[in-house]
Amino acid sequence: MKKTPLHQTFSQFADDALMFNGQPVPLGGMSVSHFLKHYWHKKPLIIRQAIPQFQAFYTPDDALAALQDENTETRLIVQTQTDWSMKNGPMRKKDIPPRKQKGWTALVQSVDLHDAAGHALINLFRFIPDARLDDLMVSFATDGGGVGAHYDSYDVFLLQAHGKRHWRIGAEQDLTLKPNMPLKILQNFNPTEDFILEPGDMLYLPPHYAHDGVAVGDCMTYSIGFRAPTYREISVALLNFVEDNIELAGVYADPKLKPQTTPAALPADMVDDMYEKLKKMRWDKTWVAECLGCYLSEPKDAAHFEPPAKSTLTAFKKSALKKGLVLAQGTKMLYHAPWVFINGEHFVADGKDAQRLHELANQRNSTADWPSDADIWPAAFEWYQLGWLNLDA
Ligand code: SIN
Ligand code: CO
Repeated sequence: MKKTPLHQTFSQFADDALMFNGQPVPLGGMSVSHFLKHYWHKKPLIIRQAIPQFQAFYTPDDALAALQDENTETRLIVQTQTDWSMKNGPMRKKDIPPRKQKGWTALVQSVDLHDAAGHALINLFRFIPDARLDDLMVSFATDGGGVGAHYDSYDVFLLQAHGKRHWRIGAEQDLTLKPNMPLKILQNFNPTEDFILEPGDMLYLPPHYAHDGVAVGDCMTYSIGFRAPTYREISVALLNFVEDNIELAGVYADPKLKPQTTPAALPADMVDDMYEKLKKMRWDKTWVAECLGCYLSEPKDAAHFEPPAKSTLTAFKKSALKKGLVLAQGTKMLYHAPWVFINGEHFVADGKDAQRLHELANQRNSTADWPSDADIWPAAFEWYQLGWLNLDA
């Protein structure tokens, strides 16, 4: 895949662009706090030239190759005069419509995991917590292509990367979906705004805001999507977590047992006793944070980690100090004192070690100028061997 150097991709921001955490803010001069206060979860925002003169780094050919790749999550959506069809990848070349055929779309998920510029792009949105970021989805559509009028359950930034897209969006919609469709399409879409986005323009949509984007000629749109765990999925994760951490001693006993004429009946005393014992089980906020950190730092299935050539702790320390360390693109690292979470694993860190790891998680890199006897070296070496942490280039 062709790579565009990152400095070329995002150097178009003016020198005086608003900065946040050392990164330019892609909100067209709006501050992050203004955006969060007035738009996030509330109303859509069209940002003209959010990334000025943006140049697509992921091309239509990349999207077509991804449709055929078994390690990439993709979908092909084809619209005819009367119908829609949707097929999941991977697929054979002959199953992909010709480029000159109108009205089809290729969707490629998690481009940030495999493409350095994609990773850099999603990182511009780290004014939102990592725990809420989902992925970068790229769509390629031929003229007239789109995925139909629909709503998404999560917030999304839709960056126009190549060509034009005609958007129609609508507030306060009837969210009923058309029955028996291969994809979610609104039955009664009433757009209230209508506009065209060009390369570098971006649309922010809050959850459940109805929208329909149709390609005007060949078109690529990059969606920076967010995730929000459902309370149900976290409760299931917490119950699994509790299973491994239960400290409830003792065995049921019935010293006052009476002769039984109905031996099949579940003894009422047994139910009462169990209820009283189980009532004593409590989880507290620290368990919730511990479980949430493990769950949300699980890497995506599509994340690929490349272990380095064999090394030793001593050689690793020497190279890390010289070159610095950088988290692999697919690595998820979060923290909530006293824990540090990395790719679903967690451990307790305190003092200076905690500080060093928090810095690594926030910056996704480190100069690794840690004392040679710092306790985190063996852990960092383990992550290096797993391909979770790399020497900086
Ligand atoms: C697209 O990129 O084709 C559509 C994305 C969306 O409407 O959410
Ligand atoms: Co959408």
